[in-house]
Amino acid sequence: MTVDELLAQLDGILKRAEGHFAEVTKVTDLRELELGYIGKKGFLAEVSSELRNLDPEARKVVGEALNLVRSKVVGYSEGARGVLVAKETEERIASEAQDLSEFLVRKTDGIGSIHLISQTRAELEDVFVGMGFVVEDGPEAESEWNNFEALNIPQHHPARASQDSFFLEFGSANSVLLRTHTSPTQIRVMSTQPPPIYAVMPGRVYRRDTADARHTPAFHQIEGLVIDKGINFAHLAGTIDTFTKAYFGPNKTSRLRPAYFPFTEPSAEFEITCTICNGIGCRTCSNTGWIELGGCGMVHPNVLVSVGLDPEEWSGFAFGFGIDRCAQMKHAISDARVYLDNDIRFLSQF
Ligand code: DAH
Repeated sequence: MTVDELLAQLDGILKRAEGHFAEVTKVTDLRELELGYIGKKGFLAEVSSELRNLDPEARKVVGEALNLVRSKVVGYSEGARGVLVAKETEERIASEAQDLSEFLVRKTDGIGSIHLISQTRAELEDVFVGMGFVVEDGPEAESEWNNFEALNIPQHHPARASQDSFFLEFGSANSVLLRTHTSPTQIRVMSTQPPPIYAVMPGRVYRRDTADARHTPAFHQIEGLVIDKGINFAHLAGTIDTFTKAYFGPNKTSRLRPAYFPFTEPSAEFEITCTICNGIGCRTCSNTGWIELGGCGMVHPNVLVSVGLDPEEWSGFAFGFGIDRCAQMKHAISDARVYLDNDIRFLSQF
C-alpha cells in the first residue's frame, strides 16, 4: 500500500472510532471496541504491520500519523469509559437503594387518630418518666383485697357499697370487682417489688355513677407511688408542683388542702390554678381560681404493713388523679361525656 492509501486508511479509522466510541452504551461493549481498534489484531495493528514494507522516509510519516491516531483513539476510549462507569455506578446504586422513608398519613385520609384520653395518658407518663418514675400496669378486674382491704378501706366505708362498685360474679360473693380506682395497683407493685419504688400506674376505672358533665361510669386515673427511706411531705408537694408546671405550663401552680383518704395519713386534695380563667375566678372553678385534680398523702402505716413493709424502715407518698379531668382542663372541654360519645367531630380535633 502506498503512503497515501495508508494515511487515508488511518483517517477513516479515526473517523469511525470517533463515532463508535461516542455511541457505546456498556462497559463490556467498550472493551470489544478497544480490541477492535487498538488490540493486537485491531485496525491500527493492521496498519502497523504495513510499516515494514515502507521505505524509512515513508515509514516515519505513516508511523507518526499512526501514533497520533492511536493516542486519539485511546482518548476516545478513556472518555467513554469515564462516562459509562459513572452511569453504571449510578444505576447500580439506584437499583440497590431501599426506601426507608415513613408514610405521613393525613387525618383527612380517614385513618382516624389516637383518642384524646390515650394521648393525655401518654403525655402524663412522659412527664413522670422524665422525673424518674417507671410506668406499671394492673388489671381492671381486681380483688376486693387489693381494691379495698389492703388499702385500709374499712368494711363500712361508703365506697364499698354495691351502689358504687361493679361487683363481678366470680369467686365468692363481692370478692372481685371492676376496680374503682388505680390505687390497688400500688398494692400489686409493693407486694412484688422491693423498695425503693418510684412508679406511676395509669388505667381505666369504673364507678356506678350516672353520667353527667363531670362524671362517666368508666374513666381513667393515674396513680403515683414513692416508697424509699426518709421520704416526707415536702417531697410529695414538690413532686405535685413539678408535675403541674411540666404538664399544664410554668405559669400554673398547685396547692394542697387537708382531706381524708383511708390509705394515706396525712392526706390532702391537690388543686391546680384554674386553666380556664388562670386563677382569676370563673364558673368552672366556682370563682375560687382553683380546680381540684386528685388526692394524695403519705402512705398509711397500715398499708405498708399489709404488703409486708416495715413502717419504721420505709416511708412514702402516693397520689391519684383523673386523666379525663386533666384533658378536660387542658383543652377546656366542658362535658366529660364527649370522651365516650364517638362523635367524629370531637375526636378528629385531636
Ligand atoms: N384513689 C383515690 C380516688 O380514687 C385517689 C387518691 C387519693 C389516690 C389519695 C391516692 C392518694 O394515691 O394518696 O379518689
